[in-house]
Amino acid sequence: MDNLDQLINEARTAFDAVADAAALEQAKARFLGKNGLITEQLKALGKLAPEEKRERGAAVNRAKTAIEQALEARREGLRQVALAAQLAAERLDVTLPGRGSALGGLHPVSRTLERIEQLFHSIGFVVADGPEIETDWHNFTALNVPPNHPARSMQDTFFLEGEKDVLLRTHTSPVQIRSLLAHVARYRDADPMPDLRLIAPGRVYRVDSDATHSPMFHQVEGLWVGEDVSFADLKGVVADFLRKFFETEQLQVRFRPSFFPFTEPSAEIDVAFMGGALEGRWLEVAGCGMVHPNVLRSGGIDPERYTGFAFGFGPDRLTMLRYGVDDLRLFFEGDLRFLAQFR
Ligand code: DAH
Repeated sequence: MDNLDQLINEARTAFDAVADAAALEQAKARFLGKNGLITEQLKALGKLAPEEKRERGAAVNRAKTAIEQALEARREGLRQVALAAQLAAERLDVTLPGRGSALGGLHPVSRTLERIEQLFHSIGFVVADGPEIETDWHNFTALNVPPNHPARSMQDTFFLEGEKDVLLRTHTSPVQIRSLLAHVARYRDADPMPDLRLIAPGRVYRVDSDATHSPMFHQVEGLWVGEDVSFADLKGVVADFLRKFFETEQLQVRFRPSFFPFTEPSAEIDVAFMGGALEGRWLEVAGCGMVHPNVLRSGGIDPERYTGFAFGFGPDRLTMLRYGVDDLRLFFEGDLRFLAQFR
């Protein structure tokens, strides 16, 4: 093998040994550069006789071409390797299943509230609202619970720091007062004043927390005030509502005498299912009664002329009964595994 063939082999070996394009350019300089080995061979031609020069010149040029081809082949090889590496790095697995878009749904208690609103709306009740941060007067005093009255201890209250007359409402009953006052102002000139029929769903707060009590929970207040509104109306409206709510006629409803400062007489409402898992057990679902004359007076109503009934439901409890949930806290922990079941 003459020295040109050896040179070509050397170049091939050198090119093959490089790891990247930069190293390849350096290896190229060693053979094809200004001071490279091939250039050296071309310069050496000058010393040869004309005869020899032609033959040797052609041989050197063939060697040069062979080295250039080897260089180009190696360049292409490195480009392929780089491309393959890039493709591997940027690889997208288009066969992965999509993440989808999870469908939200109403909270089970919201479903209950909507259902209650629908049912009462269908018999002419409006939905009323009141603030969750309430005055002591609306929450207690106007509801016939004067300051220092022992009945205040029935509801352990969150007061606002530094405020002795502002609190988180302990029940939705203050909406009775706000709505009565607004109704009276609106129908000042009407005689008789039209009936006021409302429900007031919302959040209420008490210092209390265990499996059946949460410091925040829901109530739905009900109120019907007008001429000749009686306890019989109360029984009819509530029993009818409960059978519609639970979608069964197989439901016993009982009014058990009780005490609330804002009603007289007062009762606790119990239900018992005739069939199913809860068959035969009396379950308390609401308090109710005929609106106390002092409450009507707080609302600007003449108790000699108008009467009314009121009730307060626990929709959290109704939701537990309707769906068979045994721990109230599940409703307020925000665990999607629980909530998704009601979607
Ligand atoms: N406000 C009462 C409570 O939270 C519930 C209640 C009882 C509301 C009787 C009423 C009622 O309107 O008439 O314990």
